[in-house]
Amino acid sequence: MQGRARGSAVHAGLSIAAIAVATLAGTAGAQEPPAHGDARHGKAISYTCLGCHGIDGYKNAYPMYSVPKLERQNPDYLAAALQGYRDGDRAHVTMHSQAATLSDQDIADIAAYFAGKPLVASGKAPGRVPQAVALCVSCHGQDGVAIAPMYPSLAGQHQDYLVRSLDEYRKGGRKNPVMKGFTATLKDEDIAVIAQYFSALTPSLSTESRPYTWLTAK
Ligand code: HEC
Ligand code: HEC
Repeated sequence: MQGRARGSAVHAGLSIAAIAVATLAGTAGAQEPPAHGDARHGKAISYTCLGCHGIDGYKNAYPMYSVPKLERQNPDYLAAALQGYRDGDRAHVTMHSQAATLSDQDIADIAAYFAGKPLVASGKAPGRVPQAVALCVSCHGQDGVAIAPMYPSLAGQHQDYLVRSLDEYRKGGRKNPVMKGFTATLKDEDIAVIAQYFSALTPSLSTESRPYTWLTAK
């Protein structure tokens, strides 16, 4: 926590974050996921997802990049991402067909199941924050753990997937207006530095694990 309050770049980022949050609240009302998902139902309807998200190192082909880690991600964010694929805000043919028939409630249930126990901010600054990352930490955290549930945590996410997703916001394949704004002026070198920084952070997101001890323990 202390680390995040230091430095003028971070302060600038925070006020941008406040504006962006206000903007999001104004435009995204229709996309609000139901607050609580039923993880047991989520488990029952998401078996096919594990064919990709449950295998360490599984790759998307053409172009080749790693399938994102979902476990310990924020469920609100997972739900928003799934709605994005379903409704066309995110262009990805396979994920569109995976999400196409899911209701908002199904999505909330799946998100609760896959998130498991979301990452909690470590409160520790992991060291020097590169210039290219300075504006990002106000939402995604210095330790890569999102500061609010609607933002994705990035800690330990696959480096090649981070590059891919940033490129998608920059080029318009993903239409989220906040991230479009933050990536518009990024150069390839900045994206490389950013992806390297966040992918190396721990504690980390992980590939869906089995047998989901957090669910059976309840
Ligand atoms: C054939 C492999 C495959 C299957 C099956 C699959 N996914 Fe995916 N998933 C991907 C890939 C690849 C991406 C990254 C897409 C992109 O570039 O935006 C992704 C992205 C996601 C994301 C966004 C993660 C993030 O960090 O933004 C979520 C959430 C997700 N998938 C959930 C699911 C769920 C739920 C199912 C089952 C209903 C499922 N996926 C089935 C390959 C798959
Ligand atoms: C105002 C808050 C905010 C700031 C600042 C911000 N982001 Fe984001 N970021 C978001 C939101 C919201 C999303 C989810 C967008 C969506 O639904 O696709 C996101 C998504 C992402 C993703 C996709 C994660 C995934 O799993 O697919 C990456 C990578 C990312 N941001 C990196 C960055 C970087 C790098 C910066 C700085 C250049 C940055 N963000 C600045 C709010 C922010």
